[in-house]
Amino acid sequence: MIVCICNSISSRVIEDYARRGLGVDALRADFGLASNCGQCLTHALDMIDEVQAQQGARQGERYAGAQRIIALAQA
Ligand code: FES
Repeated sequence: MIVCICNSISSRVIEDYARRGLGVDALRADFGLASNCGQCLTHALDMIDEVQAQQGARQGERYAGAQRIIALAQA
């Protein structure tokens, strides 16, 4: 799906950047996200937040798993 119509930036590109910890600034620098009409900005921000929140949750799960392993090893 195209998120930024002015610059033909797809949701796939935005999600890929978000997974790599990059945000609107990098997308603007590389592709011109939100540099024309700006209509895409809110949607792009929401997508980035969602992807990074999911990654944060997974990292939290990995951390909790590591804590359980350490506790078992110390028991
Ligand atoms: S839709 Fe992205 S700048 Fe217009």
